[in-house]
Amino acid sequence: MTGPNHPFLAACRREKTPYTPVWLMRQAGRYMKEYRDLRAKFSFLELCKRPDLAAEITVTPVERLGVDAAILFADILLILEPMGVELEYSKEDGPLIHSEIVTRTDVEKLLEFDPEEALPFVLETVRKSRAALNGKVPLIGFSGAPFTLASYLIEGGSSRNYLRTKTLIYSNPGAWRGLMERLSAAVSKYLNAQISAGVEAVQLFDSWVGCLSPDDYQRYVLPYTRATIAALTSGIPVIHFSTGTAGLLKSIRAAGGDIIGVDWRVRLDEAWQQIGHDVAIQGNLDPAALLAAPKEIRNRVTEILQRAGGRPGHIFNLGHGVLPETPVEHVVAMVEAVHELSSR
Ligand code: CP3
Repeated sequence: MTGPNHPFLAACRREKTPYTPVWLMRQAGRYMKEYRDLRAKFSFLELCKRPDLAAEITVTPVERLGVDAAILFADILLILEPMGVELEYSKEDGPLIHSEIVTRTDVEKLLEFDPEEALPFVLETVRKSRAALNGKVPLIGFSGAPFTLASYLIEGGSSRNYLRTKTLIYSNPGAWRGLMERLSAAVSKYLNAQISAGVEAVQLFDSWVGCLSPDDYQRYVLPYTRATIAALTSGIPVIHFSTGTAGLLKSIRAAGGDIIGVDWRVRLDEAWQQIGHDVAIQGNLDPAALLAAPKEIRNRVTEILQRAGGRPGHIFNLGHGVLPETPVEHVVAMVEAVHELSSR
């Protein structure tokens, strides 16, 4: 069993650690040969639905990179299938979600589901990953946050301006609120099922919420994210992650989470000042920095560690996921630099 004093879990509680723990969003993915070899044989959805393979993908980066936490191999969009929505990953256009959410009636057609019945493969991946990790590092579970999931349902995929999503908010706030209530309940239930299956921390990805104004965030998102987090099993650290939210950080913090994830568009010390030093912080190297030579990567790691100032409660990460073009040796160099330069 992973002890509660593992550096990652201790940092989540803002306790002193011998070095700054580090992991990377998308640490299991296409930049890694082991992953690409499996992808040559199976589709992405097949991998997600095969717990033996998904657990292997979860564990590989821990061995290969020396990171301080594993993240479950799955996807934020898996939850949409049991809501009655068809999901597809296309090579050219990324995820395609075949849904039509325009009216209240469309929202009411979304199904409720029991995660144990509808997403058993995710929970089995949790159990298999915990067994394979054998207490070496903690396992992080995750879900999309209600806003980011709503944006995929409404836009049908990734989007540049979120115009359909904003149009629904402005023109039919009743339908929007109904949608956010359903998603909030589904996400809490799903994360609690992951916790029961054995994850030791959870991350809520609100990847695209930075497209909103602070007032729209407060009115149309904050209450639902807050309800999602408030309904989670207590005692398990919650990482609340978003990007492009330098102007929303106080509200993001107010919505909840023990650790706030920030991207590189804001300085780590300024972000921490804004959210308050009574929560932990995760971040925030620009993923593109990993394309630079290891010496430059080291300089940038140094800068971020300096901004954290040795204060307990910093978890080193990128500001967003690892880019597919990243050389694995650069990631290894980054992890080593974090451990060495933060050693105390
Ligand atoms: O972090 C990890 O290593 C764990 C696994 C994980 C994946 N997706 C695997 C994945 C996690 C935590 C996610 C979260 C996720 N998925 C988010 C939030 C994080 C973020 O990037 O903001 C989002 C928005 C998604 C939705 C999604 N899934 C998109 C937009 C895409 C296509 C674009 C892309 O990056 O490929 C995916 C596919 C996806 N999810 C892949 C992986 C490894 C690539 C699939 C492939 O092998 O082709």
